[in-house]
Amino acid sequence: MSQLTIPFNRPSLVGNEQRYMAEAIARGHISGDGEFTKRTHKLLQECLGVRKVLLTTSCTHALEMAALLLELQPGDEVIVPSFTFVSTVNAFVLRGAHPVFADIRSDTLNMDEARLEALITPRTRAIVPVHYAGVSCEMDAIMAIAAAHGVPVVEDNAHGLFGKYKGRFLGTFGVMATQSFHETKNFTCGEGGALLVNDARYEERAEIIREKGTNRSRFFRGQVDKYTWVDVGSSYLPSDMLAGFLLGQLEMRDQVQARRREIWHEYFRSLTDWAVANHVRLPIVPDHCEQAYHMFYLLLPSLEARQQMIAHLKARGIMSVFHYLPLHLSDEGRRFGGKPGDCPITEDISDRLLRLPFFYDLRPVEQAFVISGILTFSS
Ligand SMILES: Cc1ncc(COP(=O)(O)O)c(C=O)c1O
Repeated sequence: MSQLTIPFNRPSLVGNEQRYMAEAIARGHISGDGEFTKRTHKLLQECLGVRKVLLTTSCTHALEMAALLLELQPGDEVIVPSFTFVSTVNAFVLRGAHPVFADIRSDTLNMDEARLEALITPRTRAIVPVHYAGVSCEMDAIMAIAAAHGVPVVEDNAHGLFGKYKGRFLGTFGVMATQSFHETKNFTCGEGGALLVNDARYEERAEIIREKGTNRSRFFRGQVDKYTWVDVGSSYLPSDMLAGFLLGQLEMRDQVQARRREIWHEYFRSLTDWAVANHVRLPIVPDHCEQAYHMFYLLLPSLEARQQMIAHLKARGIMSVFHYLPLHLSDEGRRFGGKPGDCPITEDISDRLLRLPFFYDLRPVEQAFVISGILTFSS
C-alpha cells in the first residue's frame, strides 16, 4: 500500500449543505434567524425534546449566554472540571466568577460526582459538567446534589449531541446546555453552537441576550409593535447560511452517527488485545450511557509512551493529538489558586491521553492503516 496521510479530522459534506446555503442566498436572507435557523431550531427541539434551542456563533458564546442568564456576579463560584476546554471556564470568569476545579473519574474522565458535594460553598452559583467524548456524566448524582443545594446545572455538551444517559438525551438535564458545531464535532457548520434552554424562566431572556439585549425576536413574531433595548446582550446569532449548512448535516444524523459508531467499534475491536499487552487503556462507556461517538482515545502508560506514539504515527503520516491540559495548572488557573495535586486524576490522564483520527468519511482502508500503525508500537 502506498503511504497515506491521515489527518486527525476532516470535515465532509453529507447532505444538502451546499444547496441550503445557496437557497439562503437566493432567498436574500443571509443574516441570522432566517428560514434555515428556524428549521434547525425545530429539528433539534423536536428530536431532543427540549423547550427551546437557540443557534449561536459557537459553544463558547452559548456558555457566555448561560453565564449572563444566571446573572453571575464577581466572587460567585462555579464548579467546573479542570479537564475541559478553556471556554467552559472562561465564560463564567468573564462575569467575574471564581472557578472551583473538580477532578474527574478515572473511567469516563467526567467530573467526579463523588467529590462534588465537598466543593459546594454558600457562594456556589453553578455546576458545569462536561460530557467528555460524548459519554455522559453521572447525571442522577449530579442533579441530586445540585437540587439539594439549590444550585443550577449547565451541561457543557459540546461533545455529546444525541448521546444519552439512562435513555434520556444529554443536554436535557440542566437548566441549560450548550452544543458545539465547530469543524471537529460530529455535526458542523465550521464555527457554530447552540444554547438549549430547559427551564422556562430563562427562555425569553435568552432570546433577548442573543439579540443584542433587544426584544427583536418578539417583534418579528408580531408580539410587540416595535423593538427596543430592554436588557444587556450581545450578538450571538449565526448567519442563516451557516444554519443552512448545519441543517444539511443534522438531517443526515442517523447515517452520520451509524458510521461513526462503526468506526469507533472497529478501533475498539482491533485494538483490544494490543491494548492489554501494552498496558494501554481504551475508552470505558458504562452500560447506562449511550455515547455520542465523538472521539476515540488511548490512554498510554506514561507521558513518554504517549509522545513516542505520536511520533511513531506521524512518521507514518497519521496525525494523532493529545487533549486538554489541566486548567487548574494553567497560568490563569493558578491565579485562581490552582496548584499541583489539586486534581490528581486530571494531572495524570492529560499526560497520557491520545486521540486517534476519527471522522465520518474515514475510509476503511485509512482506518486499517491507522490500526496497523498502532499495532506495530509497543510500550
Ligand atoms: C468541552 C468543550 N466546551 C466548549 C468548547 C468550545 O466550543 P466552540 O469551539 O464551539 O466554541 C469545546 C471545544 O472544542 C469543548 O471541547
